[in-house]
Amino acid sequence: MKADVFTLFPQWFEWFRTQRHVENALRLGHAVDTVDFRASTPLKWGQVDDTPFGGGAGMVLRVDVMEAALRGRYGVDPVQLRSQRRVIALTPAGRLLDDALASELAREPALTLLCGRYEGFDERILEHFVSDQVSIGRYVLAGGELAAMVVLDTVLRKLPGVLGDDASAVEESFSEALGGAPEYPHYTRPAEWRGWAVPDVLLSGHHGRVDEWRREQSRKRGGRPLP
Ligand code: ADE
Repeated sequence: MKADVFTLFPQWFEWFRTQRHVENALRLGHAVDTVDFRASTPLKWGQVDDTPFGGGAGMVLRVDVMEAALRGRYGVDPVQLRSQRRVIALTPAGRLLDDALASELAREPALTLLCGRYEGFDERILEHFVSDQVSIGRYVLAGGELAAMVVLDTVLRKLPGVLGDDASAVEESFSEALGGAPEYPHYTRPAEWRGWAVPDVLLSGHHGRVDEWRREQSRKRGGRPLP
């Protein structure tokens, strides 16, 4: 997976790249690269945004600036680009990120993530350059960078070999393996603490019963929101 993040804050991703599973992904040949779209702006003084037509608060990222950055990176008209790779704008009103979307994105060979700032993107960027709009929740962040990291975090951990044990990413909360339900509870040593005992079935060594109990717990949790 080759992921490119278009951002005004490429240095934020230096920290992200040092996270254990991200490091693992990079070692396996995956990539998380950043493109600073201020560096390729055709405007003077590094300008990337402008005031909204019709008035109103805030600044809007310009379509010509985004086009220059995408053309500079890929050497093609960005209108064509979105049929070659997923081009994702991070926006609060986009498709909500969930496990199914993360799995879908993890099957892509390449992703482009566009991080907005200020009031967001000129609508023509979303209309003509972008294949997906993705939101990490119905609240507004100061920019798309944290959202891009959330998307990449959940996508990269699904790639084979990135987690210590690939099984960790298969049977986890909201996965297909658990029918979209939250994961079952986990326990470790000590088997009893302050009178709080681990369920007997987990100590039984009977894999079939353990499996059945876990699925049942997961189903029970599915019906109510997590605390
Ligand atoms: N940019 C600003 N807020 C966001 C959100 N909630 N999700 C994705 N991108 C965003």
